[in-house]
Amino acid sequence: MRIGIIGAGVMGRVYARTVTDGDLRWRAEVVAVCDRDRALAAELAGHCRARDFDDAERMLREVELDAVYLAVPDHLHCAPFLACMAARVPTLVEKPLATTMVDAERMRAAAREAGVPVQVNFSNRANPVFVRMRQAIAAGDIGDVVGVNARLSNIVDYPTRMLSWAGSTTCGWFLLSHVFDLAAWLTGARAAEVTANGVKGRLTGEGIDTYDIIQALVRYDRGFAGLYESAWVLPNSLPSPVDFKVEVVGSHGALYADTQDQMVHVANDKAYTWPGTLDWTQARLSDFLDLVAGGDAPADALDDALENSALLLALHRAVADGGTVAVADVLARTAAGATATTDGASR
Ligand SMILES: NC(=O)c1ccc[n+]([C@@H]2O[C@H](COP(=O)([O-])OP(=O)(O)OC[C@H]3O[C@@H](n4cnc5c(N)ncnc54)[C@H](O)[C@@H]3O)[C@@H](O)[C@H]2O)c1
Repeated sequence: MRIGIIGAGVMGRVYARTVTDGDLRWRAEVVAVCDRDRALAAELAGHCRARDFDDAERMLREVELDAVYLAVPDHLHCAPFLACMAARVPTLVEKPLATTMVDAERMRAAAREAGVPVQVNFSNRANPVFVRMRQAIAAGDIGDVVGVNARLSNIVDYPTRMLSWAGSTTCGWFLLSHVFDLAAWLTGARAAEVTANGVKGRLTGEGIDTYDIIQALVRYDRGFAGLYESAWVLPNSLPSPVDFKVEVVGSHGALYADTQDQMVHVANDKAYTWPGTLDWTQARLSDFLDLVAGGDAPADALDDALENSALLLALHRAVADGGTVAVADVLARTAAGATATTDGASR
């Protein structure tokens, strides 16, 4: 399979190298890399022995591709995704699908029109820890789910050094998108409403206008609630840049996961760390390539992702205005033609 990469940043590099340097190289090759920073595209293309571009439409015109992995900043997914759909190229687009409902609706409509396989990269669905959690819930090991608690946060270097566009997104879009999707996927429940709080201070003080932390209470259609938190100001001294803890409480049991602690602790004179030992990127990409090889576009491909964006917009409105915001209200306003903006306001 001939793969094109759009966005040669952190994630583009990880996924391109997963194809080029791992076992997937027997089934796929990266033949084109596009980044609007041409030097980044050229560097990664050099590693993959691929062609480099700074314009996605041109890449799609000039190179025959079986699939695209699209990893550009959260608020910029729409235009290159629409270009992929116009070229009818199966696409794995990064989460969150979009940061406005207008973009999300346009993307879903374009995917339906193109009729090619598309997925949003809620990569934790391929993490063996959460696959096992989901099996335990489905098998009835903890009885009925009565609550979910999850915390997914980054060290402060992430928004201040690793992402040049942190001020155009939030830890809600960047991190709670995963948490919200995971909770829905694990439990099968749909989010009904959200109450939330956000604090700004440290990051705005460093010239990045975004929240230090967002906390949320999400109520689901099955009667239970989820308590969630994402912070973007954790100390850089933590052993891993990502801190992800998930607890699912059931009527007759509970499940606990800490993806930062994967059993091996390394202590030496310099530091005490517990490095990640599980990498599920290959499994994630493999699932998508299976879908592309099958050729059938799922009828509801982007429905979950669109609801995820609606919940995230409700979250940001709840943070900005206080009170509780219904997801149905965001969806209804969109249907009525109002444009929900990234921060959840309507205009
Ligand atoms: N699934 C996951 O686990 C996971 C983890 C981290 C990030 N992400 C998501 O991946 C996406 C990318 O994040 P990142 O950390 O790689 O960001 P990044 O800033 O490291 O890379 C993004 C790249 O996209 C390029 N770009 C921007 N607009 C472009 C365009 N129109 N055409 C071509 N290139 C363009 C930028 O120049 C940049 O190099 C985000 O949506 C993020 O939320 C997902």
